[in-house]
Amino acid sequence: MSTYTITRRLPDDAQAAALRDDALNGLTSTPKWLPPKWFYDAQGSELFEEITRLPEYYPTRAEREILDARAKEIADQTRAHTLIELGSGSSEKTRLLIDALRATGTLRQYTPVDVSESALRQAGEALVATYPELDVHALVADFSTPLGLAETPGPALLAFLGGTLGNLLPAERAGFLASLRGQLRPGDALLLGTDLVKDEPTLVAAYDDGAGVTAAFNKNVLSVLNRELGADFDPDAFDHVALWDPVHDWIEMRLRARHSHTVKIPALDLAVSFDSGEDLRTEVSAKFRRPTITEELTRAGFTLRHWWTDTAGRYALSLSTPT
Ligand code: AVJ
Repeated sequence: MSTYTITRRLPDDAQAAALRDDALNGLTSTPKWLPPKWFYDAQGSELFEEITRLPEYYPTRAEREILDARAKEIADQTRAHTLIELGSGSSEKTRLLIDALRATGTLRQYTPVDVSESALRQAGEALVATYPELDVHALVADFSTPLGLAETPGPALLAFLGGTLGNLLPAERAGFLASLRGQLRPGDALLLGTDLVKDEPTLVAAYDDGAGVTAAFNKNVLSVLNRELGADFDPDAFDHVALWDPVHDWIEMRLRARHSHTVKIPALDLAVSFDSGEDLRTEVSAKFRRPTITEELTRAGFTLRHWWTDTAGRYALSLSTPT
């Protein structure tokens, strides 16, 4: 029999306090900003799943192509007993890894880690139905939470897919990779998905799709603030903007005020004024190049063992081990 447990490493009141801190800090800064993790309430997680099916949003398909081709190789290389997945969302692509690791006969436990409890529950129920003898230990946590690896059967394969590493700024990225490295044991491995630098029109279209799903996803963060903090943001008062920054190699998503107006946020005892055309920055999504990500991994204490891309060269999966 499989078991399914869900552990909340993020207590609800800590989450609420973190949202208040982030909103107060970001909305009183110049320029105004909010961290992207607040996109992912139940509605935002669904909108993100919809994004992954858009014709313009190539990363999901590119990553699946690589996993289709390489899952067996990854399983043979790692022979993991535990698969831990950061930012697991729907765990859809993960099935390719689970299937391959089950074929090697090594996999015993799957630990999906996500900030969205609703996404974890849905994914967990579906997984347990498909894999009757797999233990699923879901963790509601963000990326800064220690993973508690000591209690999991090794070797572990830590998967961080989807290109979400790109949400971190370079300095945060360095600290994050080093902290992952610090938690891994000899024999464990890191499977990292990174979107690659490419032509600007392709990149911008992936974050500004014709159907407006990404715009709805971006504006959903305003609904989160309205619900959780009693704010009175009008999503129609903002335009969705996606910009390519060729200096930093990242896409930025912003919400641009259509006219000057003031938003009240009762839970923060705050009024926030927007000038006409003023931007609220909501996400950075960095894109990578092989030499730079190799160097970042090296500096964090990893040795890059494999680098795989899709046939179009848009996206890379890398497998690294503690140096
Ligand atoms: C989930 C962070 C990988 O940056 O491509 C998709 C989120 N934002 N469209 C990304 C996202 C807008 C996505 N990650």
